[in-house]
Amino acid sequence: MNAAVQNAFNEQIKNELFSGYLYLAMSAHFDHQNFPGFARWMRLQAQEELAHATRLFEYVLRRGAQVELHTIEAPTTDFGAPLSLFESVLEHERAVTAMIHRLFELSGKEGDWAAQQELQWFIAEQVEEEDSASTARDQVRMAGDDQAALLMLDQQLGSRVAEAGEA
Ligand code: FEO
Repeated sequence: MNAAVQNAFNEQIKNELFSGYLYLAMSAHFDHQNFPGFARWMRLQAQEELAHATRLFEYVLRRGAQVELHTIEAPTTDFGAPLSLFESVLEHERAVTAMIHRLFELSGKEGDWAAQQELQWFIAEQVEEEDSASTARDQVRMAGDDQAALLMLDQQLGSRVAEAGEA
């Protein structure tokens, strides 16, 4: 792994951990708002992000490269109504997709074909991430101002099943 690719992978480890931080903040927000299902959905999302960061971390080590842990900024805690929060989740996932694509592009430019192969997993994962964020956003949008519908949706999203390695 050359220095440019190594640095970009380390930066992405931080980006994935920041995503986890952001979703934990959103989970706490929903817990305070008495939406335990949305809070659980966000907590599982945070755990997925930790799994993404760990996968990159292990990959850098497996390549015999240097892991450097960069500073993680504090996320915002100003989230507003459920719909605007879920809009932010989708927006965030789209931004992460763009980061993964840039990392893939850089790996190609640097002739690191192995890194590109590893990143294929992340490219596919981002399709899933955007899909689940956009489904949740659409459902919250459909519930609108109907509190009963929102509470039912809270229960439904709260039944999200953890992926392997999550709890
Ligand atoms: Fe690790 Fe939600 O992207």
